[in-house]
Amino acid sequence: MILAFRGNFVHTPSYGQMDMLLDKLVIVKEGKIARIATGDHESEVLQEFSLSSSDVRRLREGEFFLPGLIDTHVHAPQYKFTGTGTDVPLMEWLRKYTFPSEESYKDREAAQHRHALLVKRFLSNGTTTATYFGSLHLEPNKILVDSILALGQRAVVGKVNMDRESPEDYMETTEQGLKDAEEFVQYTLSKKTTRIYPCITPRFIPTCTVESMKGLAAIARKYNIHIQSHISECCGEVNFSRHLHPEYKTDAYVFDDMGLLTDKTLMAHGTLLTDEDIKLLVERGTSVSHCPLSNFFLGDACFRVNNAMKLGLKVGLGTDVAGGISPSMLSAIRMAVVNSRCLRAHKLAVKGGLEVTPDMEVDVISYKEGLYLATMGGAKALNIDNQVGSFEEGKEFDALLVDVNAEGGPFDIFDGDTIEDQFEKFINLGDDRNILEVYVQGVMVKQGDVFLGDSTIK
Ligand code: GUN
Ligand code: FE
Repeated sequence: MILAFRGNFVHTPSYGQMDMLLDKLVIVKEGKIARIATGDHESEVLQEFSLSSSDVRRLREGEFFLPGLIDTHVHAPQYKFTGTGTDVPLMEWLRKYTFPSEESYKDREAAQHRHALLVKRFLSNGTTTATYFGSLHLEPNKILVDSILALGQRAVVGKVNMDRESPEDYMETTEQGLKDAEEFVQYTLSKKTTRIYPCITPRFIPTCTVESMKGLAAIARKYNIHIQSHISECCGEVNFSRHLHPEYKTDAYVFDDMGLLTDKTLMAHGTLLTDEDIKLLVERGTSVSHCPLSNFFLGDACFRVNNAMKLGLKVGLGTDVAGGISPSMLSAIRMAVVNSRCLRAHKLAVKGGLEVTPDMEVDVISYKEGLYLATMGGAKALNIDNQVGSFEEGKEFDALLVDVNAEGGPFDIFDGDTIEDQFEKFINLGDDRNILEVYVQGVMVKQGDVFLGDSTIK
């Protein structure tokens, strides 16, 4: 299967660097980018791949390709109440909204219906890779894997483990939890797909016993798979963790001692991580999912992305649905920018003055850094940057065809808007109406309103 596209491609291969690849010919062969050539070499390249001029999809003015967006933190069984439940702090929010919602996915038909809607919603918003926390029960998580598989998304998926400090009807024994976690891993691996990665998922320190955390770490080692959890998210969580484990200085040291900080571990939030914690994570190769919108509601601080990047941490961006009330990674990019500007505003307020000083700018990021976090940053955080995250020969083609002139779209283009202006408008104002086509591993999984799914599955 060969695809050929000629037009503009935009990506962010490194933090702060946005490249506009104008008038390129891109050949996608068996799901991978086989060639990125300049447009004026079209005839030679077509000949090499035994293609004719009519095989080339020529993008129209205002259309461009963007790498697929990578959401590094989503709670699948919280989709039901996304957009509501914004009135209480984290520990109360879990009991009031989250656990009841997750528990209700035990119903097989409900799980099937809701998970399909969730995956479709995320694909529509351009999320080609999502990192999902599932629910406690085994069955709904298998259904989630089946939905992802059929609809063609790339995903990291974990069954959530909780064996203490949880509601009686939404808690497992340590033994059952470990058994189910391993069965879930085996179920996912039995699908023999290269785009769904099973993940070990201790919910967070308060709900996981030492025995469970150590047992889960052993399963992760046995299968060499991803680990995800929440770390240093807010005062309520951190204080509870310290109360349960007074012998450890911080969450990071608890996780480390349990064997849960690996180079395949992705920790959500980290708003209250110290520099020392970050250095420990860096040493272990562990990454952080920055979830700015969720942090505004449930976190107690703004994550300092530039500081973390300077310390060498791998950082991706997450929506944290439903703690974050939007499933859109474009929204997450905007929120990451706003988060950085809050840090600046805070410094000004603390100084109590009217003078803006250079140190106020150190935390500020632009949409370009935001886009990096949503693509390459996420790919690095998940250790899949050799596969996705940017347009490079040899990488898999996970991409979005964007049209800034989409009919009925959410913004307007005017004479004199440069290509970069048009692109910035899409990042700051665009939505699913601008995303015409979605590709995962070179397969078009969505076109217009139609979900085509993975046509390569027999
Ligand atoms: N900490 C433990 N569980 C959760 C959750 O579901 N969402 C968030 N944001 N934090 C958590
Ligand atoms: Fe979360």
